[in-house]
Amino acid sequence: MAIQTGNFKITQVEKSRIHQLDPNNIVFGSLFTDHMLVADYINGEWKTPEILPYGKMEFTPALASLHYGQAIFEGMKAFKSDSDEVFMFRPLENFKRFNISAERMSMPAVPEEIFIGGLEELLRLDAAWVPKGGDNSLYLRPFMFSTDEYLGVRTSLNYRFMIIMSPAGPYYSKPPKVKVETEYIRAAPGGVGYAKCAGNYAASLYPAKLAADQGYTQLLWTDAIEHKYFEESGTMNVMFVKDGKIITPAVSTTILKGTTRAALLQIAKDEGYTIEERKVSVEEIINGIKDGSVTEIFGVGTAVVVSPFSAVGYEGVDLELPEITEKSVSQILKTILNNIRTGKIADKYGWVWKVA
Ligand code: COI
Repeated sequence: MAIQTGNFKITQVEKSRIHQLDPNNIVFGSLFTDHMLVADYINGEWKTPEILPYGKMEFTPALASLHYGQAIFEGMKAFKSDSDEVFMFRPLENFKRFNISAERMSMPAVPEEIFIGGLEELLRLDAAWVPKGGDNSLYLRPFMFSTDEYLGVRTSLNYRFMIIMSPAGPYYSKPPKVKVETEYIRAAPGGVGYAKCAGNYAASLYPAKLAADQGYTQLLWTDAIEHKYFEESGTMNVMFVKDGKIITPAVSTTILKGTTRAALLQIAKDEGYTIEERKVSVEEIINGIKDGSVTEIFGVGTAVVVSPFSAVGYEGVDLELPEITEKSVSQILKTILNNIRTGKIADKYGWVWKVA
């Protein structure tokens, strides 16, 4: 039976599938919670959002987003404290970035009541799905795609915004070995690198597959013009520890403005680390690994949180990085971040958003 609560029409599942969740054995992105949110944008306005049992949808083969890729998404997480409170982490940052992506992809902005209100409503319904402990969390995936039944190339008139949620544990089973990519690119100036649009990820798959065939887990992307400066790694921002300082590429139109990146830099600053946000050359880092001044390289992002690399492949040679310990910068920062997100230490930044 559907009920109307506030801004949402809600139809609850008759029987939860929560028994499918094993918190000790979670494969990222493979299991979805009981409910999902669907909001349609038709004739220039947002219709009443609906919360429905998670399930399949029917579409026309002429769906514009399937052909021309007007599709964007966000990656966010919810956490559970020891006393079973549910928190989202800095949801307004993702909301703002979502609408920046929407503008770049010529899509309508999603109102805060639908984006944030929808997440809150869904999390209240599916709170039991937020797994506790270790690196566990509930991954939240808001996304939007064009729904015109039309094959002409133009800005679509109709869109669907949705939120689905998926229990998450550690993203990588072991520290990734990454390859410095000097042929293919992720983003070019004037392009869509700063937008979280589906096409950015599609274009990364072929170079990532070539690297996987050579034994690498991920790519370290370099700039499109000279292949001289690092940009991102796979689906993450990247940080380097050199001479005890944290160095990271400054965000630009070719680099995604990561929310995890921003939080970790703030924590690192407050922990007394020197931070340099600037261009980071491949030469500087490769030489630094060789002479021992670069001691850590790690990816940071919502899905991976903090993911230290085991080795970097450059021009056919693999350079091993030192073993990670609990004293490594990446681990110190990750522990503080996780403790804030799960309510274990006081949130002096106002980052956690209590939902249930
Ligand atoms: C995220 O960290 O949310 C990402 O964008 C990674 C995702 C594509 C798996």
